[in-house]
Amino acid sequence: MFDVIGLGNSCLDILGVVPYIPGVDEKIEMSNTSMQGGGEVGTALATLAKLGSSTAFVGKIGDDPIGTFIKEDFVKYGVDINNLIVESGAISPSSIVMVEKYSGLRTIIDCGKSVTNLKPEEIRSGLIEKSKYLHLDSWHREAALEAATKARKKGIPVVLDADIPAYDASISQLIQLTDILITSQSFAQMFTKTDVVNISIDKMISLGPSVVMVTLGKNGVVCEGGGERFKTPAFEIEVVDTTGAGDVFHGAFIHAMLQDWSLQKAVEFASAVSAIKCGMMGGRDGIPTFLEALDFLTRHDRKY
Ligand SMILES: Nc1ncnc2c1ncn2[C@@H]1O[C@H](COP(=O)(O)OP(=O)(O)OP(=O)(O)O)[C@@H](O)[C@H]1O
Ligand SMILES: [Mg+2]
Repeated sequence: MFDVIGLGNSCLDILGVVPYIPGVDEKIEMSNTSMQGGGEVGTALATLAKLGSSTAFVGKIGDDPIGTFIKEDFVKYGVDINNLIVESGAISPSSIVMVEKYSGLRTIIDCGKSVTNLKPEEIRSGLIEKSKYLHLDSWHREAALEAATKARKKGIPVVLDADIPAYDASISQLIQLTDILITSQSFAQMFTKTDVVNISIDKMISLGPSVVMVTLGKNGVVCEGGGERFKTPAFEIEVVDTTGAGDVFHGAFIHAMLQDWSLQKAVEFASAVSAIKCGMMGGRDGIPTFLEALDFLTRHDRKY
């Protein structure tokens, strides 16, 4: 039994700080270069594991050095990888992330990958039913739909990270099988064809999820759930790098739900954990432990 099973993306991020985003035919220097695990579900699981939840990753990598890095990083965090398929001869996913020095905002280039999508029949029988939460992203859509259907049958809540790559023809189908939908602002805008967050939330909640959240980067998050709608501001911190803030937010939110906290408390906890992450380079190095997160909240006058 796992607290959370995550099915989706895990990749290698090569990150560094640049003075500005370069133009055509320019050559600039990257500093503070770092290699870290990345990807929506992958980083959410690393967050959950660091906070103290038991997790298992379901997905695919290639048998290349990038894949080895991804695997070893999961092992480092204590994420179970018995359901991580290694595809022979395939190139694993990786990204180059340029972090702008002035703002800490990241620009991402996804590098070519050839690893194939996980097929529904590649999910080990009975696995999905062995978790308290199922976490999904935009990857392996057919397998994600199958996993969500199985989880729903068992009453296991399905959490979906819908960011830009998720915007495609079958995303509505997946949202209909989702209990907790947390989207980036850009996904919400594209999917609901409005930049008014409250209208986006109305539209998305009408598709079935009981909780819908739109994260707004440094402007916080708007959440609807339990018949209430509220906005939780982001914590003010010195930003080094926002890479993975959304991924970490998802992991921390699920960890908070596993503590049986109220929705408001869970959203605040996730905001704190993702803000702490933004104080360091990369998607994973800045993830705090549970005690470090509670200490941060106490220092910000929150009672936990
Ligand atoms: N600059 C920041 N300062 C403090 N907290 C931040 C900052 N940026 C992000 N966060 C926290 O992280 C949450 C998620 O961030 P964001 O909305 O940028 O996710 P995203 O768009 O999915 O990005 P990604 O998935 O690439 O990390 C925000 O709601 C906020 O609580
Ligand atoms: Mg995101």
